[in-house]
Amino acid sequence: MGEEIIGNPTNEDRPAKGEEKCKSLKDDIKYYTLEDIQVHNMSNDTWLIIHDKVYDVTSFLEEHPGGEEVLLEQAGADATESFEDVGHSTDAREMLQQFCIGELHMDDRKNEKPKDVNVTTEESSNSWTTWMIPAIAATLIGILYRFYVSS
Ligand code: HEM
Repeated sequence: MGEEIIGNPTNEDRPAKGEEKCKSLKDDIKYYTLEDIQVHNMSNDTWLIIHDKVYDVTSFLEEHPGGEEVLLEQAGADATESFEDVGHSTDAREMLQQFCIGELHMDDRKNEKPKDVNVTTEESSNSWTTWMIPAIAATLIGILYRFYVSS
């Protein structure tokens, strides 16, 4: 159940909590599996996943304006939905960075893909048939009506 490191393992010991910043570690990102993260689910050791990044929020629990309970409820798990549901401010999003310790392993990501982009093409052909069919029907009814009136 060791924590997995992919990338350039030239770093010395892991920096103190909160000092690691994901963005500055591009070439040496630590990747953690869900299994690695799940064990950090205690009040003295709390990790969260938000948008496939891993955060060690242990030192932030008492400072969190929304209270520590909500963070502990998500401890060791993916808190993306709860984090977004609250509608956190830009300040909150910037704060996130100081707690980032790595990223979720590719194999454990949900890979939510955007919906099919071909919908537009389909829609445009649909809208074409939407007005064409009533137009033909109206023409036919007109012809039949004239035929009926004249006979
Ligand atoms: C490291 C992760 C997080 C950081 C840095 C963070 C930061 C903040 C900050 C700065 C605020 C004050 C309001 C704002 O600026 O948006 C806040 C409020 C709040 N947060 Fe978080 N938060 C984190 C994770 C979470 C999670 C995972 C949840 C939900 C389970 C949560 C729930 C809340 C709630 C309920 C409030 C109070 C909102 C209100 O009173 O309007 N937060 N958070």
